[in-house]
Amino acid sequence: MQEKQDSPKLSCLSPTKITVLTLCILVFIGGIGAAAWAIVTYLFKAEDPGLYDVQINSADLRLSVFDRSEGKWRFVCSSSSNELVAKISCEEMGFVRSLSYSERPSSMVVANGSAGFFCVDEKQLQYGRKIQEVLSACACESGRVLSVNCQDCGRRRLPVDRIVGGQDASLGKWPWQASLRYDGSHLCGGSVISDRWIITAAHCFPERNRVTSRWQVFIGSISQASSGVSMPVQTVVYHSGYQPFKDPNIDDNSNDIAVIYLATPLNFSDYIQPICLPAHRQPLVDGKVCTVTGWGNTKYYGQPSVILQEASVPVISNSVCNGDEYYGNQISNSMFCAGFADGGIDACQGDSGGPFVCEDSISKTSRWRLCGVVSWGTGCALPRKPGVYTQVNQFHQWLSNAMRTYSQSSGVFSMG
Ligand SMILES: *[C@@H]1O[C@H](CO)[C@@H](O)[C@H](O)[C@H]1NC(C)=O
Ligand SMILES: *[C@@H]1O[C@H](CO)[C@@H](O)[C@H](O)[C@H]1NC(C)=O
Repeated sequence: MQEKQDSPKLSCLSPTKITVLTLCILVFIGGIGAAAWAIVTYLFKAEDPGLYDVQINSADLRLSVFDRSEGKWRFVCSSSSNELVAKISCEEMGFVRSLSYSERPSSMVVANGSAGFFCVDEKQLQYGRKIQEVLSACACESGRVLSVNCQDCGRRRLPVDRIVGGQDASLGKWPWQASLRYDGSHLCGGSVISDRWIITAAHCFPERNRVTSRWQVFIGSISQASSGVSMPVQTVVYHSGYQPFKDPNIDDNSNDIAVIYLATPLNFSDYIQPICLPAHRQPLVDGKVCTVTGWGNTKYYGQPSVILQEASVPVISNSVCNGDEYYGNQISNSMFCAGFADGGIDACQGDSGGPFVCEDSISKTSRWRLCGVVSWGTGCALPRKPGVYTQVNQFHQWLSNAMRTYSQSSGVFSMG
């Protein structure tokens, strides 16, 4: 479209015929090229390859699922299992929980010549299965489709230009950040995933720190010193596969994950919002630059910083991070590293148990997801010794089980 400014004007009426012909053919070919490009772009847009296979229509909350075999989207026909379909679908998309669901007439959908329907195999439907695995194409004879309202997540409430720079500005930039305090002292970071649940690291709960009444979750502030909300803790569930609790000499830090259930629900606000989880089987992307936030260095006994710190660091592939110069095979499949080869900037600015968050648009709207939990590292910002994180996408099932099993309990539990 844009030509160099001093190039001759292309006119098919020019007297020099050969030049004219050549130029006109070039323009023609260029036109075909542009048209082909436009068509390809259109087709790609239409197919939306970057979208997750389960989506909620933002206008009317209708649930739609991609039909891989036919390459098209289908609405989900209402059934007697709507509640469970809603819960499993919201969890699968990383929205943590479903708030409500309803039925809508499918007639409008049909009238618009839309893609078609899926029906649920209710006998196959259960937690741990992908929703796609229990759906099959159908005519939806009930004439009603399912709409689902999942908990929103991973979005800031304040516009970015109010967040960047300025005194109060950073307030609201990472609204899911929590500070976990024991007897009033900041010990760990955490991430708000719903009005009741916080995700953190298992290693924040050694035996000496297991009295729930002495824990408080501090949220809604970027300053350790100033106003935020302090929430009492009812339940802690840590992963029973976290080996160092059984034998301190064990070198394997796998399964460093825990959840906290608050005694009373949070009120979301401009400064308090939940983070999304990764969608089911959503891979972590090597090289992707994400953000780690926290109030202290990852050193267990370091002094916390007063103001919340943030650092942007790229994900390092496990094959690199398991190299001899790095961590020599200490990085299991459920961990990952992030940082720079030469050190310098590190999760050191983060905080044990705190969030490592990545942004994506697989659910159309851009959202932040909790890809990692700050877990361990050798020293701080040392070359070839990047921060190591619990890979949250490996714990979808564990998190779902923990939240369903322990919301009526109080105390500290371990779960496999
Ligand atoms: C279907 O058509 C109706 C009426 O034209 C319109 O209001 C509605 O937004 C359309 N729905 C979709 C999903 O295109
Ligand atoms: C949430 O809001 C309700 C109603 O305004 C209020 O009673 C409650 O104390 C609030 N909770 C917190 C933790 O601020």
